[in-house]
Amino acid sequence: MAKRKVCVLGATGTVGQRFLSLLENHPWFEVVEITASERSAGRRYEEAANWILPGEVPEYVKKMEISPTNPEIVEGVDILFSALPSDVARKVEMKFASKGMVVSSNASANRMELDVPLVIPEVNPDHLSLIDIQKKKRDMDGFVVTNPNCTTIPLAMVLKPLNDVFGVAEVFVASMQAVSGAGLPGVASLNIFDNVIPWISGEEEKVEKETLKLLGKVGSEGAEPAGFKIATSCNRVPTIDGHLECVFVRLEREVNLSEVGKILRNFRGEPQDLKLPMAPENPIIVREEVDRPQTRMDRDAGKGMSVSVGRIRKGVDEKSIRLVLLGHNTIRGAAGAALLNAELVVAKSMV
Ligand SMILES: NC(=O)c1ccc[n+]([C@@H]2O[C@H](COP(=O)([O-])OP(=O)(O)OC[C@H]3O[C@@H](n4cnc5c(N)ncnc54)[C@H](OP(=O)(O)O)[C@@H]3O)[C@@H](O)[C@H]2O)c1
Repeated sequence: MAKRKVCVLGATGTVGQRFLSLLENHPWFEVVEITASERSAGRRYEEAANWILPGEVPEYVKKMEISPTNPEIVEGVDILFSALPSDVARKVEMKFASKGMVVSSNASANRMELDVPLVIPEVNPDHLSLIDIQKKKRDMDGFVVTNPNCTTIPLAMVLKPLNDVFGVAEVFVASMQAVSGAGLPGVASLNIFDNVIPWISGEEEKVEKETLKLLGKVGSEGAEPAGFKIATSCNRVPTIDGHLECVFVRLEREVNLSEVGKILRNFRGEPQDLKLPMAPENPIIVREEVDRPQTRMDRDAGKGMSVSVGRIRKGVDEKSIRLVLLGHNTIRGAAGAALLNAELVVAKSMV
């Protein structure tokens, strides 16, 4: 298969950098263009970017010139990976799609549109059927597919198998979210060292709405949300990468804890069946140790694409459980998620 030509929108940011790192030597995709704001446009990547990942800027992109993020200018690209701020994404993503390109987006701008698929390939690949509705409704040859927010993704991956087997009635979540989730330049050091901030703008609303869309159905008009209750409390903590979540779930029927562990451990989806390049062998890794998962030790599990789960315990009654989960926010929670979505649409011959 000839490599698809791809462009990273917002290539200088936290998520943009992850994209460029994960796209180095990708077997299906070749980066032919990168964009950022007017501040960076026209400059070479290595000069414009404040590279924050370990190691060097990948060689292939060092001398690449940054283009402005302008749908009138970007040409000859099959897939765009969007790591743009949401307000910018709202202005440009559909314009790129109307030029016949596929946009795999991290931004929240279009996630809750009824005709835009919000997808985690292991959870709801069937929601890609919204693409036909989107193209028809907006009269476009291209389309936008989105991945959820970095806190929603590991949560929904764990709720999916539980919902399939037991039915989910109610979910409560307290998150401990890394500073890289705030993008560049990020949270001021004097605000986050030696501190926990019990509020992240818009985060709780996103996690609650997106989780219900992901675990809902596709109806004739578009996405229809799941009916269970969910409440979240999101905190910024002084870790660099990795969002840890303490989750309390009430199920529709009684559960036994060893069954829960087995169901999570055996969870697989289309990415594993199709052997997509970004797919981890085990989407969920269940830890037996009493003190795992831990952010620093477990965030890179499955090259950052696996969700680690531990401390599976009984909740307030026989139908309730508690657990701790962890996902890498810029890999499984952002760039890796958008890459996996793009790999799925390529594997399904939708590009
Ligand atoms: N960080 C995470 O863990 C995470 C997880 C999931 C989803 N997301 C979402 O992913 C997106 C990117 O997040 P991030 O954390 O990477 O943000 P970021 O570090 O602030 O990077 C933003 C990128 O967008 C570019 N940009 C800013 N203003 C622009 C404009 N007016 N026109 C064109 N480009 C512009 C920036 O270019 P310059 O360098 O030139 O300013 C930079 O490349 C956001 O929508 C965010 O909500 C982030």
